[in-house]
Amino acid sequence: PKPVKSKIVKLESLRGQRVRVSGWVHRRRDQQEITFIVLRDGTGYLQAVLTGDANKTYDAVTLQLEASVELTGTLKAVPEGQRAPGGHELVVDYWRVLGAAPGAEEAFTNRLNEQSDPSILADLRHLVLRGETASSVLRLRAALLSAFRQSYADNDLLEVTPPCLVQTQVEGGATLFKFDYYGQPAFLTQSSQLYLETCLPSLGDVFCVQESFRAENSHTRRHLSEYTHLEAELAFITFDDLMTHIEAIICETVDKLLVNPATAALIKTLNPHFKAPSRPFMRMSYASAIAWLNEHKIQRPAEDADGNVITKKDEETGKDEPVMVDHEIGDDIAEAAERQMTDIIAAPIFLYGFPAELKAFYMQKMPRQEGEQGPVYTESCDLLMPGVGEIVGGSMRIADMEELLAAYRREGIDPAPYYWFTDQRKYGTCQHGGYGLGVERFLAWLANRFTVRECSLYPRWPGRATP
Ligand code: 4AD
Ligand code: MG
Repeated sequence: PKPVKSKIVKLESLRGQRVRVSGWVHRRRDQQEITFIVLRDGTGYLQAVLTGDANKTYDAVTLQLEASVELTGTLKAVPEGQRAPGGHELVVDYWRVLGAAPGAEEAFTNRLNEQSDPSILADLRHLVLRGETASSVLRLRAALLSAFRQSYADNDLLEVTPPCLVQTQVEGGATLFKFDYYGQPAFLTQSSQLYLETCLPSLGDVFCVQESFRAENSHTRRHLSEYTHLEAELAFITFDDLMTHIEAIICETVDKLLVNPATAALIKTLNPHFKAPSRPFMRMSYASAIAWLNEHKIQRPAEDADGNVITKKDEETGKDEPVMVDHEIGDDIAEAAERQMTDIIAAPIFLYGFPAELKAFYMQKMPRQEGEQGPVYTESCDLLMPGVGEIVGGSMRIADMEELLAAYRREGIDPAPYYWFTDQRKYGTCQHGGYGLGVERFLAWLANRFTVRECSLYPRWPGRATP
């Protein structure tokens, strides 16, 4: 009979029939009379057996690892104990090589393994992607984005696509990628927030999934030069509403992933100990976080007046080590301290109420009590996850036009290019707020990856834009 053409993921209903499947040779095992192949087509893995005539015509030069092939045969159910992927195997009676893969054994098995140099793995990312772990992470990433979109739809937020080429900054001039745009200065976007704010009076609550770019010279486990930024903006809310909404979106999205058997299996493979976080998340003010760090003897490197780390020779090792000091109100909570804190608490934490000095120009200030001393705090929040630290940054926005104009002045920002952002306050302002979530950081938490570099298709970091 004429074979039915199928993707591997769709084979279950075709058991007992003659089928034709195309894919790549993922693994090969030779016995005397039989050749076993695991075929990969991107939708799944299929065990195939070549015996008798099919095995006789087997050609070791062409039917090799990573060759693209077309296999035709009868799909047979396999008893559970034999652990064939999908619970069936293809008994091949006819096969064809579509594209040979000379040298693949050497290129894949010998060069790409856990001991490989990270720079080789980065150069050969296009080949690494064919591996089971990398493709599982990317498959989970796709499911994650789709679940987020569904959660936003359930909460009545509309998706928009803001531009990447912009002429305004959001998170400070220091991390802007600048370029010449038809003779005018322009930047790659750091955040779509300002555009989302302008959408509120048009479309109501909105979100976007857009690339953001940061020219940060940070070689850390969680910094990329280009990352996928999930951002949302909501009108007529309070600061408390904002944090409750972030919690809800994250928990609903994780629930969707765990309810779906295919994505639940991916999470189980990548992160066997994953537990869905429970609501409400712990909320800790910036000021109490500083106290917590000092109680737990988590210090920060001392800096001189120019912001350079002060070092001292270590008696034992003879190396220059940073001088560590206690945290004080007004200090930035750096990545190392933040990570230690989340690892000890081992649950999601909303850190809120950062001093205005540490945060972006657009953030709403917290009302000051009579006679209150110390820094002005903002209605801002970072969500920290164990193993990663900050995955979300959000805030309420300055709603008053005069206050915003004063904020531009304080930051030394020329208000002219921001006229459209200012107009949002001029014509029918409202209390509003929003946040940005780093998709790669979220995925690093969900899939327990060591670095966000594993969570991006082709990650970019300082010095790396290839492949
Ligand atoms: O905290 P950030 O800088 O906040 C904003 O950009 C706001 N304008 C977002 C908003 O309110 N709409 O960035 C938000 C999140 C961070 O919490 C982090 O998860 C991620 O974006 N992020 C990065 N991820 C990877 N590499 C980088 N260099 C990142 N910088 C920020
Ligand atoms: Mg932030």
